[in-house]
Amino acid sequence: MHMYDLIMKKRNGGHLSEEEIRYMVKGFTQGEIPDYQMAAMLMAIYYKGMNQEETLALTMEMAYSGEFMDLSAIHGVKVDKHSTGGVGDKATLVVGPMVAACGVPVAKMSGRGLGHTGGTIDKLESLEGFRTALGEEEFIHQVNNIHMALASQTVNLAPADKKIYALRDVTATVDSIPLIASSIMSKKLASGADAIVLDVKVGSGAFMKEEKSAIALAQEMIRIGIGAGRDMVAVITDMDEPLGYAVGNALEVKEAIETLDGGGSKDLLELSYVLGSYMLLKAKRTESLEEARAMLEEAVESKRALKKFKEFVKSQGGSLECVENTSKFPKPSIVMDVLADSSGFVEKINASQVGRVAMILGGGRATKESQLDLKVGVVLHKKVGDKVEKEDCIATLYANDLEQLKEAKELLEKSYSFSIRPTSKNILIKWIVTKNGARKA
Ligand code: URA
Repeated sequence: MHMYDLIMKKRNGGHLSEEEIRYMVKGFTQGEIPDYQMAAMLMAIYYKGMNQEETLALTMEMAYSGEFMDLSAIHGVKVDKHSTGGVGDKATLVVGPMVAACGVPVAKMSGRGLGHTGGTIDKLESLEGFRTALGEEEFIHQVNNIHMALASQTVNLAPADKKIYALRDVTATVDSIPLIASSIMSKKLASGADAIVLDVKVGSGAFMKEEKSAIALAQEMIRIGIGAGRDMVAVITDMDEPLGYAVGNALEVKEAIETLDGGGSKDLLELSYVLGSYMLLKAKRTESLEEARAMLEEAVESKRALKKFKEFVKSQGGSLECVENTSKFPKPSIVMDVLADSSGFVEKINASQVGRVAMILGGGRATKESQLDLKVGVVLHKKVGDKVEKEDCIATLYANDLEQLKEAKELLEKSYSFSIRPTSKNILIKWIVTKNGARKA
């Protein structure tokens, strides 16, 4: 078998066999297939797509390139939640403690990731002393003990995906349905959960810009998960504006804590209730979504979810000082308000550009080697549908460098579009996708 022939086959619209996909993934992971050939193949897949059999074969090959987590020592049904990625998405930090406070085990491996801000793991590291590298035994012990653990590494998950993703990231081949579906599902299958609740983002700040393609991505992932014996559901949610108000690592942790404490952001809380309700249902903790939601609401209102977050932070060595009093989160050297230059109603906020603002300020990684500045970012004060008077503060920028601040401010101002007429709020929860199809939420 030769990689050249496989590239040509895919370029001409052919289908790769399981054996050919195995050859390609193994060869590339072991360094026998060079980057330039794999890059050509990824671009061919980007344009010609993959059918269901090819996507499944690619997923399984990447999943089996590393170890599988064995979660059998954790009591109860293990439910994972995964977002396809968006700007200001700190939902795991809210849903996790809520669900754990209802007695359902949350055993989550999370990434650092490239992008506008760090991944969940980076965000949590803004709490002093927080340890993310847990061994398998400690991870399982913690979940059995307090129902929640979030780790960056316990076993080596899907190393083939890691290598292929790094190449996709620099060859403009990330936003392809079969490549995203196989990448996410290879890691999800290897991390060992019995059921998976997917949050598939759609809009200007997501990989999928159209609802139709977000539904297609969700259906592909559900098909793969069901095929591998997992219980699956996907919720298609808005990413046409950032989730909540904060974009930036420490700023997002602060917003998550405030949301668990009854303040914070209404859209973040609503999304967390919806995802959490499906998690309780899939974990067989309740028999209906209504009952699940009532349990979650009780966990938040009674502050048991916040207490669970504290327990989780303490177990992983993090300081509770900023959790107990969020005004203690260290601030960067410059904090600047951005004012509206006219009155009107917010019509759009380009989520991807707001993400870029956080990245310019140093909150995201441009390359794997980039050092994150966990304190910087942006907090929006106006969201789509809000009325704005001239000179109102629309956002606050948190920066450590004047040049970066100037560039970020210009981009932030361009991210907002205003209308002189009242505008409506974005619909947050758009579709529910199951193995039986998609229905409007
Ligand atoms: N997240 C992943 O893990 N993989 C992708 O391809 C896209 C988002």
